[in-house]
Amino acid sequence: MELEDFADPWEHIRMLQDADRNEAIVAALEAHVAGARVLEIGAGTGLFACVAARLGASHVVAVEASSFAEVARALVRDSGLAGRVEVVCAHLDELEPREVDVAFGELLNADPFAEGIVQTYASARRWLAPGGVLLPSRLRVSVALVEDSAPAEVRRAHEQLRSLGERFGLRTAPLMERLTPTEPYRYLAPSVRPVGQAPLVDVDLAQGTPILPERWEVRVRVLERARVGGAAILFEAPMGPTSIRSGGHFGVLVQGFARAYDLAPGSALDLQVVRDDEDRLVVTPCV
Ligand SMILES: C[S@@+](CC[C@H](N)C(=O)[O-])C[C@H]1O[C@@H](n2cnc3c(N)ncnc32)[C@H](O)[C@@H]1O
Repeated sequence: MELEDFADPWEHIRMLQDADRNEAIVAALEAHVAGARVLEIGAGTGLFACVAARLGASHVVAVEASSFAEVARALVRDSGLAGRVEVVCAHLDELEPREVDVAFGELLNADPFAEGIVQTYASARRWLAPGGVLLPSRLRVSVALVEDSAPAEVRRAHEQLRSLGERFGLRTAPLMERLTPTEPYRYLAPSVRPVGQAPLVDVDLAQGTPILPERWEVRVRVLERARVGGAAILFEAPMGPTSIRSGGHFGVLVQGFARAYDLAPGSALDLQVVRDDEDRLVVTPCV
């Protein structure tokens, strides 16, 4: 994702309407920031930098690379927090570290590495005083098999073709076939029902992970009979007392396969997961 996307108010509207995410951040701040020097990594609107100050942080540096830094500055000023919250408009990697006790941020979207969390948190670790806290501390990513991989739009278009075809006596089957994607495709589902799941990688953001692989092979077993049509990327990022999880404001990333696989209970599908040059995870069956 381009950082300048975050100059778009809709990105922030989508994040802020996600009450579970917001409460996870607030709970983490309640647990860690009283009396602390704090860094917010990617402050966006500046809301949580201000919450950290209200929860007793002694000083907050709110770093935001996009032009939304201006919005954050206005919130800080209007809330009477100018002496305690400092908004810096820059990419974190470009800044000289200053010592803080807590660094927190939320650089996750449906594709968990696509916002550069691993690289940016490596920069954030350089700001931490000995014993300092980085939030979230880990990023656990897994792959889940799902039965229905057709995006809602494809399914709805097919339903319409079927019903209009019946109503007006049209032969829509060839059209339906033509309008069925055969290339692997990606879409965001509001939620998914996994029929099998396997861990992919557990990144220790606080300690640093040596080198993130560019490619994994994972075997995912199903517990029930299933016609598997795609794979979903799931993640969990522990944030103090709670976690930020996939499926919030962005939905869950699902990648449809070019064909469906009929799997008996207990059988498995081998998947290849590749991190592409934009750090997106691309899942394909190994068969
Ligand atoms: C997912 S949004 C979170 C915004 C805000 N912290 C919140 O929780 O509502 C991530 C924000 O981090 C900013 N960002 C991402 N990587 C950054 C980096 N390396 N340095 C500074 N800002 C960054 C983006 O521009 C964006 O506004």
